[in-house]
Amino acid sequence: MVNPFDVVLFGGRGDLALRKLIPALYRANMEGSLAEGCRILPVCRRREDADLYLETAQTALQTHLRAGEYSDSVWREFSQLLHSVVLDIAVPDAHWDQLADILGAEGDRVRIFYLAVPPAVFGPCCENLSLKGLISEQSRVVVEKPLGYNAQTSDEINGKIASHFPEAHIFRIDHYLGKETVQNLLALRFSNVLFEHLWDAQTIDHIQISISETVGLEGRAGFYDATGALRDMVQNHLLQLLCLIAMESPNSMTAKNIRAEKIKVLEALRPLVGETVDNNTVRGQYVAGGVGEELVLGYLEELQAASSGTETFVAIRAHIDNWRWAGVPFYLRTGKRMEKRCAEIVIQYKKVSHRVYPQSAGEVIPNRLVIRLQPEESIKLVLMAKKMDSLSMELQPVELNLTLSDTYDSFRSDAYKRLMLDAAANNSALFIHREEVAAAWAWIDPIVEHWRETQNQPQLYRAGSWGPDSSDVLLEQDGRHWFNAK
Ligand code: BG6
Repeated sequence: MVNPFDVVLFGGRGDLALRKLIPALYRANMEGSLAEGCRILPVCRRREDADLYLETAQTALQTHLRAGEYSDSVWREFSQLLHSVVLDIAVPDAHWDQLADILGAEGDRVRIFYLAVPPAVFGPCCENLSLKGLISEQSRVVVEKPLGYNAQTSDEINGKIASHFPEAHIFRIDHYLGKETVQNLLALRFSNVLFEHLWDAQTIDHIQISISETVGLEGRAGFYDATGALRDMVQNHLLQLLCLIAMESPNSMTAKNIRAEKIKVLEALRPLVGETVDNNTVRGQYVAGGVGEELVLGYLEELQAASSGTETFVAIRAHIDNWRWAGVPFYLRTGKRMEKRCAEIVIQYKKVSHRVYPQSAGEVIPNRLVIRLQPEESIKLVLMAKKMDSLSMELQPVELNLTLSDTYDSFRSDAYKRLMLDAAANNSALFIHREEVAAAWAWIDPIVEHWRETQNQPQLYRAGSWGPDSSDVLLEQDGRHWFNAK
């Protein structure tokens, strides 16, 4: 267990804090991962909000925890850790001194400043922390995407933080890395000779990485319309998954080694510029339709706008120009209001080099490894085998199925809990380094730039579908198709 620490939640009443961070800390406390004496200091701008914070947090927990997780007795214990603070992030007045008094009283213990606020106030917040002498040797700052809208703005934001905190004390979150299932990708790759020896252009035909969501704007219309799926999901979550799938084995699992390998992948991504953007990307925007049993509005109605050129779906054909992956396409896809919520990676192997069975034995379907990260975790290997109930030689695909959620009955992963505890323990392996952010933007920027220059309009797709037709065409051009989650 980590030593007692203080976590100051700037933006304590915001969506991120109430939906994710407070529930994550509640869970951490419930399972005994918070040492006695830990304090959670949610920052509110107004006194009334601070006074009512316990009620607000309790309602948030009742709303956002999973069924069965909330109980009055656990809440009573957890509520003892919450000490709301009133201050205006941008105004270094006497309220900050009160925060200093609270923190100072505990001497040199770990302080986590979690900036759950828009990036525009990261700078003033860090300046005031500095001005008020709150940044101790044991202080860490946690920030989250979106870190800017392009390489330049992201660099400016990172620069502001870096003038007050050394890189080693800056923890940039990509919550996908905190998912146990995502970490399992590395375990799968680097602890099984079976996969690692069949993990390159010699044997793999192509790779698909898909994150499909059924939700729409979730009350974040302003943010989302200015951002779009490419910046919201591909720049971070999808590229991180791509790195974990494509990177070379690090010498050991230290933050430094993992980062170095991930950066090599990002730097080897073949740039998509000018016309190559048109040939290798698809943008989509949903119109009204049915997701499951529910009829949902289209993007524009949800946004309450007459028009918008923002994409809620994106599909990309990417290539990694290095020895291991030469010629292997990586198809990336993500979208809102799609048919099913699922994050899945499909490794499609090549055909066998020579067919030994006659045509009458049936088709020899190439092997496929399907790693599902959510909603449930499973690993499936599609193999060819003999049809057992037939005397003649007939082949059929069979599945080797490993459903990890069945193995871990009470498995309740929470990425934010994991990452918060890692930041407290000073373990930065699952966080993003400034250079990684820069390398990811360097690949994304020309795509956005080309879309903007050519006034590329998103293709419409029906909510509850798998995206626009042109996304299917992107793979059909290569004689392939998407493996849509069942
Ligand atoms: C966030 C995006 O980073 O990830 C959201 O901003 C998206 O738009 C979310 O819905 C998806 O996360 P998860 O963990 O639900 O797959």
